[in-house]
Amino acid sequence: MRRLTVPAIRNAKGKEPIVMLTAYTVRMAQILDPHCDMLLVGDSLGQVIYGLDSSVPVSVEMMIAHGAAVVRGSYHSLVVIDMPFGSYEESPQQAFRSAARLLKETGAAAVKLEGGAVMAETIAFLVARGIPVVGHVGLTPQAVNILGGYGARGRSQEEYAKLIDDARAVAKAGAFAVVVEGVVEPLAIEITKAIDIPTIGIGGSAQCDGQVLVIDDMLGMFDRVPRFVKKYEQLAEKIEAAVAQYSADVRARSFPTIDQTYQPKS
Ligand code: KIV
Repeated sequence: MRRLTVPAIRNAKGKEPIVMLTAYTVRMAQILDPHCDMLLVGDSLGQVIYGLDSSVPVSVEMMIAHGAAVVRGSYHSLVVIDMPFGSYEESPQQAFRSAARLLKETGAAAVKLEGGAVMAETIAFLVARGIPVVGHVGLTPQAVNILGGYGARGRSQEEYAKLIDDARAVAKAGAFAVVVEGVVEPLAIEITKAIDIPTIGIGGSAQCDGQVLVIDDMLGMFDRVPRFVKKYEQLAEKIEAAVAQYSADVRARSFPTIDQTYQPKS
């Protein structure tokens, strides 16, 4: 199985739904890879892996360490890596330097960056210089300090119209796909119809061209998750039960048994 390419994802619009999940580690990438079209090394790793309050403190170095692991653990999915806050907003030149490092030091095929019309010039600059870009509009978690929280976007007429303009600007600038996060459903549908690149919904609509979720959220690693998450498993409970059993076995000296110990050869 060959790795999916940027044109293959771009051309999937209006055909097959695109399957995307976040991944941060090599073993998880290996497990997800056969089932996904794209793996996102999301800056959500700040909260998911490092227990940070938001993605704002995430560094390029953190993204590189996890991005390289995900590339090593996959051979089919297109790997997209998030540009962390502060690594691209200043200028197209700053964005190019950061994106080039992210791709060269991880082997990922594309970067994702947050922002609509305001990022159009930067997206065009990167694409013209050989860096494929996924846009991200709607709820943009790196802007949490401006937005004041993680609530759904597009509830007012003004914001609804602005977000359509943002998605159009990102597509026109040359992004090959755009994540549409945390918006009222009619807006996700309207954006999907308004632009000619795939929309990847998260808290959007089943009518988006694809879907993405944070892997730990959908596996049930956290009690509290956003409304748009469907928990496909309750892994935290299963891990806790396994560890409780291990702990009981150790305390009762019933582990290890003959099956887990080395005996002298007779
Ligand atoms: O960082 C991330 O995981 C993301 C997804 C939520 C789209 O940007």
